[in-house]
Amino acid sequence: MIKIKKEIINLTDHNIPSMNELEKKHNIKRIIKMNYNENLFGCSPKVNEWIKVKNDIKGFIYPDMKPKKLLDSISKYWNVNNDNIMIANGSDAIIDLIPRVFLDEKDEVIVTDLTYGRHANTAKITGNKVNIIKQLEDYNYDLNSILNAINSNTKIIYITNPNMPTGTYINQKELYDFVEKVPKNILLVIDEAYCEFANANDFPYKTSELIKTHDNILILHTFSKFFGLSGFRIGYALSSKYLIDAMKKTYQPLSTNKYAIYAATAAINDRQWYSDMKAKAISEKEYLYNEFAKLNLNFIKSQGNYIFLITKEEKWENHELRMFLLVNYSICIRNVRTIGLRLTIGNHKQNQILISGIKAFLNKESEKNVK
Ligand SMILES: Cc1ncc(COP(=O)(O)O)c(C=O)c1O
Repeated sequence: MIKIKKEIINLTDHNIPSMNELEKKHNIKRIIKMNYNENLFGCSPKVNEWIKVKNDIKGFIYPDMKPKKLLDSISKYWNVNNDNIMIANGSDAIIDLIPRVFLDEKDEVIVTDLTYGRHANTAKITGNKVNIIKQLEDYNYDLNSILNAINSNTKIIYITNPNMPTGTYINQKELYDFVEKVPKNILLVIDEAYCEFANANDFPYKTSELIKTHDNILILHTFSKFFGLSGFRIGYALSSKYLIDAMKKTYQPLSTNKYAIYAATAAINDRQWYSDMKAKAISEKEYLYNEFAKLNLNFIKSQGNYIFLITKEEKWENHELRMFLLVNYSICIRNVRTIGLRLTIGNHKQNQILISGIKAFLNKESEKNVK
């Protein structure tokens, strides 16, 4: 029998049921997917128009290794040079790459407790020590504890801003102060997968500036969320040329497919669409805040396209509400341990269905308690 590396055996199983499997199992149709933070407002119509125009995609020729239009568009969007950008097959592909490029055997990484799991997982796969720092009571990042946890083996610190699943954020001043305190021999990875949904005045909107003055910073972005292109699989990193060159040496140069490149180029240039979509997403977020408050639910105001309900004090269990919504309302939401539930902000109709479902569940629970 082939021996599997112990680091892999120790990882939690990724065997999540597909939507098809769930639909069959519970005899339901057309699940409203509020469990993966995809953009439920869709994507720019220009994406499909472009793909139709490009219908002779010449699949027998490899994709462009340096897709100039897309690189130029990203560089304009963030005001950086093309040399500062690495495009990949989703930002997950870059997350997978980071430990391989930067970690030696004894190197350690620092992550926070309640955040995107792949940062820690990829370092576990390479066999490196992962130090986990708890969030503060209010679920904000404990930046002081992160700095205090640095030791002579620390090589990478990961932060996610806004954080996922909590939707909390590190503001401009906190982030810029923190950046100055991180020693220059430690790579600071800032995962900004959801940053374009942020609307707080003090959110750090221009972190791409930081890569011009600090060559130990790597910022992760994706087209999966704000631009609604999850199905295409495309993301990118911004960093100093020095770090980008090291990453590119390791990455498969032809991994990003032609459709993804076309779609991303169309999406990032359709400013009208994404500005309108952002306004709708913010207004729906406000709608959900109001409805959750009326239902006395405990939630965190979010800078992403998802909201975190804190359910650990509730009398009911997370899985009870999840299953109720799935079976009766075809809504799929995400469990976050026993602490809470994360749900993606949908369009107005979807959010109304969600609220009806939660109301029905809470009514049922209160009747149960009266009996
Ligand atoms: C914080 C965060 N980073 C990265 C990713 C991965 O994004 P991509 O679809 O570009 O691989 C996700 C996906 O959910 C995410 O939540």
